Amino acid sequence: MRRPARGHAGGKIILLGEHVVVYGRPAIAAGLPIGLEAVVEDGAGPALVSDHPLPPDDARPARLVAEAAAIVGLDPSRVVVRVRSELPAGRGLGSSAALAVATLRALSAAAGRTLDTAEELAVGRRLEAIFHGTPSGIDPAAAALGTCFRFVRGDPPVVTPLRTARALPLVVAFGSQARSTGAAVGGLRERWEHDRARHEALFDDVTAVVERGAAAAAVGDLAALGRAFDDNQTLLAALGVSSPSTDALVAAARSAGALGAKLTGGGAGGAVIALADDPETVAAMLRRGGVETLIVRVGSGTEERS
Ligand code: PMV
Repeated sequence: MRRPARGHAGGKIILLGEHVVVYGRPAIAAGLPIGLEAVVEDGAGPALVSDHPLPPDDARPARLVAEAAAIVGLDPSRVVVRVRSELPAGRGLGSSAALAVATLRALSAAAGRTLDTAEELAVGRRLEAIFHGTPSGIDPAAAALGTCFRFVRGDPPVVTPLRTARALPLVVAFGSQARSTGAAVGGLRERWEHDRARHEALFDDVTAVVERGAAAAAVGDLAALGRAFDDNQTLLAALGVSSPSTDALVAAARSAGALGAKLTGGGAGGAVIALADDPETVAAMLRRGGVETLIVRVGSGTEERS
């Protein structure tokens, strides 16, 4: 095995278009500067050792290592992958996809292979499905690309890098409620099946907001992008995937000076993103109210955090 065999992959945030992306509509997402590092070691495998405690009966991490090792041509019974993560798990920042892509990169390095982006996207999707059933595939795209991009699901998905004229300063504010993306996606599916015409019309409205927001991000018009965040949030609430605590967090971010705010990812009590000229002040005001925050700057290839 070649050494050092390491792989890194970042987390993600969805800027616009979550949920409708499941129905083939476009979404905009960005890779995060924080992520996860995997290192391959010799040992009795397949096994994954993480600095975040894993449930003892969870067979999925070992399955990830076994499948990824087999894909790159290594003997799964002789590899152990050690993982160090900066990403909080279960907060909607794409930690499962980052784990899948970082593990794949580390094992490819161990096998002396370099996968191109298309291969990483395809295999990353398959590996993420070990953890999440049939997601849209936007998370592994973010982990593989690391920058801002437009995404349309499919086999393969259409992933188009989105260059932004300036970095987009964002506050990620974490909701305190337990959330389940699966339940939010399933609930919307039931409502859609019950009244497709109403939901398809709302999906069309979200698509128009996504396109408007993408154009604003491309030219660096933060005020217009902030309005797109607000309009997307109104439509997400109409689709029934927000919650009273998410609405309250969005309102708090706006009164703290955000240019716009919305839920990100599954919603229903999960994380909120707020676009702000001065993210430090917005984050400080939210923290004063007991909210956990993270500041990130994404887009224009200058992803950074503070
Ligand atoms: O909650 P997260 O960060 O896993 O994001 C889910 C995003 C959805 O659009 C709601 C579902 C999906 O598979 O894209």
